[in-house]
Amino acid sequence: AATVRYEAETAPATCEGTIDSNHAGFSGSGFCNSTNAVGAANQYTVNAASAGSATLTIRYAHGGTDTRSADIVVNGATVQAAGAFPATGAWATWTTKTVTVPVNAGSNTIRIAATTAAGLANIDYVEL
Ligand code: GCU
Repeated sequence: AATVRYEAETAPATCEGTIDSNHAGFSGSGFCNSTNAVGAANQYTVNAASAGSATLTIRYAHGGTDTRSADIVVNGATVQAAGAFPATGAWATWTTKTVTVPVNAGSNTIRIAATTAAGLANIDYVEL
């Protein structure tokens, strides 16, 4: 099935933090700048045509020098614990991280939850 993009700023996606637009290069009208805290999350509801493995693409930017990581939680189950979101060199330098995730046919919840006190990298969108 075709890949669909889900913007961080578009409901039903939620961002524990603010939707910002001050760093260029994002898709849509902004990105999720999470609160700088452990557990701060950016959550999506995505659709899958059929059950099985799917490739989740997460577009993010991390202009700091600290190491950021996040749990990737699908339908309540942690698929990748403390997955790395390496620094990209600047807040306007965006890159993608891909994770293979198990999905149900139909609706699925994808939660990206910070595991360091710095919170998440800035997240632009996910695709699945
Ligand atoms: C800066 C930057 C934000 C970013 C934040 C952070 O304030 O402008 O976009 O989210 O750092 O460290 O998380």
